[in-house]
Amino acid sequence: MKIRTSTLRELKNKGIRFAALTSYDMHTASIFDAAGIEVLLVGDSASDNVLANQGTAPITLDEMIPFGKAVARSAQNSLVVFDLPFGSYEVSSEQALITSIRAMKETGAAAVKLEGAKIDQISRIVDNGIPVMGHVGFTPQTLHGLAGYKVQGRDQENADRLMSECLAIQKAGAFAIVLEMIPAALAKEISIALEIPTIGIGAGSDCDGQILVWQDFAGLGERSPKFAKKYLSLRESLQAAAVEYRSEVQNGSFPAIDQQF
Ligand code: KIV
Repeated sequence: MKIRTSTLRELKNKGIRFAALTSYDMHTASIFDAAGIEVLLVGDSASDNVLANQGTAPITLDEMIPFGKAVARSAQNSLVVFDLPFGSYEVSSEQALITSIRAMKETGAAAVKLEGAKIDQISRIVDNGIPVMGHVGFTPQTLHGLAGYKVQGRDQENADRLMSECLAIQKAGAFAIVLEMIPAALAKEISIALEIPTIGIGAGSDCDGQILVWQDFAGLGERSPKFAKKYLSLRESLQAAAVEYRSEVQNGSFPAIDQQF
């Protein structure tokens, strides 16, 4: 079944949780799509998970567009969401709309995501027919402004601010909101208060959906955050396979008769 932004709302209303993963290439997109993952996010986490940058801020729109194309071409049913990179939407609602139109036209994604309570930007993009996913709590693009990797909304004042931001983002027309690194109890309160679905990452199990960076979920990176669960040990498996391949090349057992013409 083709997942649309409205499908996520229907799932929330039925109390059915959904899953999202990041993806930046054709193989992971087609595999996760075939597995029924409802949302594929072409995340700006490609910055530190593909392009070897420090953090997400350095990646550019030009660098992200090819990842978006690959994912949108390869997913048949999953909802493909394109993450607007740092610097491509903050200046004005006009800049945000121009970037979103380019992202939609050139990649074939079905929606865009942006970080923070950028209410003018969200309503301008939505008013022009482009679905927007919000993202609050810990927002990696503004890591320095948040004084590092810290759980957000721990005290009442900040918890109230996050709740108000979510309500404003919903009012501006967003179809879903990512809640990153906030206390589980606050994420639950927000999820109950909102009509649109919440998608948690380090925000407990009471969000309407969950998202993970695929390299964290698959155990590909050297490190992964506390909130991520490794569903396999891809790094170890790939390394063991590479060691075996190299030794077979050295001892002449690869290529064998079967692999020769
Ligand atoms: O870019 C990304 O991977 C994200 C998720 C962490 C939500 O924004």
